[in-house]
Amino acid sequence: MKVAVGCDHAGFVLKSAVMDFLHAKGLEPLDFGAFAEEGGDDYPDVAIKVARAVASEEAVCGVLMCGTGAGVAIAANKVSGVRAVPCHNAELARLAKAHNDINVITLGGRIIKPEQVPEILETWFSTPFEGGRHLQRLNKIAVEEKATAICGSTVEGAGRTVIFDHPLVQHKVGIIRRKETTVKQFRELLQEIASLMVYEVTRSLALTEIEVETPIARTMVRTLEGKKLAIVPVLRAGLGMVDGILQLVPNAKVGHVGLYRDPKTLEPVEYYCKLPQDIGERDIFVLDPMLATGGSATAAISLIKKRGGKKVSLVCLIAAPEGIARVHQEHPDTDIFIAALDSHLNEHGYIVPGLGDAGDRLFGTK
Ligand code: RB5
Repeated sequence: MKVAVGCDHAGFVLKSAVMDFLHAKGLEPLDFGAFAEEGGDDYPDVAIKVARAVASEEAVCGVLMCGTGAGVAIAANKVSGVRAVPCHNAELARLAKAHNDINVITLGGRIIKPEQVPEILETWFSTPFEGGRHLQRLNKIAVEEKATAICGSTVEGAGRTVIFDHPLVQHKVGIIRRKETTVKQFRELLQEIASLMVYEVTRSLALTEIEVETPIARTMVRTLEGKKLAIVPVLRAGLGMVDGILQLVPNAKVGHVGLYRDPKTLEPVEYYCKLPQDIGERDIFVLDPMLATGGSATAAISLIKKRGGKKVSLVCLIAAPEGIARVHQEHPDTDIFIAALDSHLNEHGYIVPGLGDAGDRLFGTK
């Protein structure tokens, strides 16, 4: 079992105690430095190396040391998936593992003595994570971390995930989730949210300049270059977003894709597909309020591509991380636009906390 270890000059005083402990336990330390107690090094450099080793699973956990344990913890916690906490006694180490499942422990060379290291590390290694309500809390942190990470992901050639944090959208999502929201309200809210999302979805449409005459003078104005759009709701819940989008882009053509889940294979099967004839020339927006497992969204995108569609984006109300991962895996060129990223799927494949079955709530069928 590999353990990533690192320190700056002020934590160096603890390093041999940490290495001795790990060797005595039969663990394999991966030493990221520092290798001498010289000044001039900066704790973020080593902390980020150790944190990345843990996040990438090169090491199962990490031990970091600086003067206080604070600086290395702050730096390590910037790496997605890392939970680092300074633990200057055994009780802190026990609680930080039992409740926070820390995967990096940090120690301060100016706070504790080398003799205290074995008890603190032993407690950390031997305490199990309690899970339950503590897992629920960690999941909330993980969702926020994921949202921040994917919002800004602009990897060359890869699809983006954009989450709308606009206050109006968030307010309306808060209402549409409630179980007491009526069918009428649900319908109206879904259209309104879809309308608001159009602003961001169409942000990259090309503009061109033309000359016009105002009552005062001739001037150049910017106008849409005329890129053709197509929106394709996935039947049936996607229908609930169509009018909201058409209000702002009334010239968009509308295709339809119908898929059902084969009860034996559980794979989506096409039962209806009608797309604009010139689909290959259009920017396509697939509409589906709930991105749960990603099964129907990926199948719909594949179907559209098979019929000639090239640039396909997905517009959803609420997504689960599982669905986003699947769409990006199978269609890495697809941008995903969502209003909310929820925590996970339950055993029935429903998004948690979600809003239930969007189709039933939209059409009042339950
Ligand atoms: C280095 O002098 C010191 O500031 C650093 O080791 C650490 O204590 C920062 O949090």
